[in-house]
Amino acid sequence: MLRKAMPNIAIIAMTGCLPRFRGLGIATTLKIEAMKWAKRRGIEIISTWNDTANRPILTINEKLGFERQRGTVIMCKGVKS
Ligand SMILES: CC(C)(COP(=O)(O)OP(=O)(O)OC[C@H]1O[C@@H](n2cnc3c(N)ncnc32)[C@H](O)[C@@H]1OP(=O)(O)O)[C@@H](O)C(=O)NCCC(=O)NCCS
Repeated sequence: MLRKAMPNIAIIAMTGCLPRFRGLGIATTLKIEAMKWAKRRGIEIISTWNDTANRPILTINEKLGFERQRGTVIMCKGVKS
């Protein structure tokens, strides 16, 4: 995904693989292809975001060299009592 306001950043917004095909390297391959696509276009940074509890995609991203940045913490509070 590209945004006009940030022309040097490409965003990999969503990666998914059907359950029966998981563990075969499909998501990793898709991300590598997206990285090559961005590189061919002279893009300098690729950004992505993940749920902190989503171990599979975090592992893939770490293996591919993505580095954690400062993030947003979502806070909730019950208002019933
Ligand atoms: C996350 C997802 C895309 C991975 O797809 P995949 O094609 O199975 O991933 P790959 O086969 O390329 O990579 C598997 C790697 O993920 C990691 N992994 C997979 N399951 C894992 C788990 N339960 N715990 C830790 N790491 C895990 C491993 O490092 C594995 O590599 P390895 O087999 O060499 O050890 C897939 O599980 C999915 O579609 N999930 C639902 C959608 C989602 O959460 N998407 C991510 C948010 S955008």
